[in-house]
Amino acid sequence: MRVLVIGGGGREHVLCWKLRQSCRAEKIYAVPGNAGMAEVAECEKIGYENNFSSLGRLIDKEKIDFVIVGPELPLVNGIADYLEKKKVAVFGPSKKAALLEGSKVFAKKFMKKYGIPTADFEIFTDLTKAISYIKKEGPRVIKVDGLAAGKGVFLPNTKEEAIEAIELAMEKGVFGEAGKRIVIEEKLKGRELSFIVITDGKSIKPLVSSRDYKPIYERGKGPNTGGMGAYSPAFIPFSLYKKIMKQIVIPTLKGMKKEKREFKGVLYAGLMIENGNPKVLEYNVRLGDPETQVILPRLKNDLLDILLAAREGTLDRINLSWHSQAAVCVVLASGGYPGSYEKGKPIMGLEKLFSLNNVFPFCAGVKREDSSLITDGGRVMGITAVGDDLNKAAQQAYRAIDKVHFERMYYRRDIGKSRI
Ligand code: AMP
Ligand code: GLY
Repeated sequence: MRVLVIGGGGREHVLCWKLRQSCRAEKIYAVPGNAGMAEVAECEKIGYENNFSSLGRLIDKEKIDFVIVGPELPLVNGIADYLEKKKVAVFGPSKKAALLEGSKVFAKKFMKKYGIPTADFEIFTDLTKAISYIKKEGPRVIKVDGLAAGKGVFLPNTKEEAIEAIELAMEKGVFGEAGKRIVIEEKLKGRELSFIVITDGKSIKPLVSSRDYKPIYERGKGPNTGGMGAYSPAFIPFSLYKKIMKQIVIPTLKGMKKEKREFKGVLYAGLMIENGNPKVLEYNVRLGDPETQVILPRLKNDLLDILLAAREGTLDRINLSWHSQAAVCVVLASGGYPGSYEKGKPIMGLEKLFSLNNVFPFCAGVKREDSSLITDGGRVMGITAVGDDLNKAAQQAYRAIDKVHFERMYYRRDIGKSRI
């Protein structure tokens, strides 16, 4: 079978790495891929986010049998519908179902309608009304209504900061259309948890538990990023697991069916847990990055079997099976990220990782120039290590990182150690 993975981050690298282990995967392609992924997939730098016609041509030319979509943007823009219409098998939800991530306003209204626990909220389309609400209620969480690469959520500490965020979105138009409508919601306290399931619309298979670290600095300080690291397992008590399934996952999938937006693919609920009770912070309609980099190395099954079964509606026949070992992924970022940063820094020492057991570098913002690899993004790569427990996995990941270097390389030193 000829398989194509859409995306070019660490999540897509680990997807290709795991697919490579499948005896059914005859050839693996990636669009656009990255220089690290080129070791396991044939990468093609063509458009894939909004306009799918070049992709369609590649699929015809290379006789691709199955497409697996990593990131949210093409899903929200209808890539699955385009491919299904073209009679190409695809793993990923339809445009209608992907609205769960594509619109915060849709997601919040949906949760309210179906009684799914989430933070109390108000929706605003008027700048003056939004500002007077903040003046009356104090600082709240502010979210723009659309995809903003993780940058459209503000957690202001003061009314002034909150008003600044609202103005940025609604007046200055920094987020384009997405900023014209905003959600202002209650700030939740507790521990965050990523709860990720795979579904074919009938069966639901939860993946092993994981947690990611969003803030740039240790101890949860500084602005949020796409994710600076992750670990698995995250040790969810069974009582909490049952609550998440009963109060969140099952009603979400049933509700979406009722709305004629049947969901098939990966549903990722970003949760806040307070006193053992889960509330939804956000829905994602795809695998997490860097959560996938700690989940897939623990998976025993053939990934292709699972994704095909989810597409074909036969997920009930699959039993997911996991290694008991723990995994930790530490993201190496360009100094300055998530703000501005420089690219083009040579990456040294990666070859030294080959001699280490249970260490897997998954590349993201990495490009090849002549014979060397250079940085090409904010999150450059994630180093995943597997070990008997989280401490051992974390130790091994940091031992590996000591061998890698690029100018102004930045990483958090508490991944897998501080159990957020
Ligand atoms: P979201 O994209 O909605 O998940 O927001 C990104 C991050 O902002 C989350 O992972 C949380 O760390 C934080 N966040 C979002 N909403 C809230 C909230 N209502 N209360 C506290 N933190 C939040
Ligand atoms: N790690 C957070 C995300 O994938 O959205």
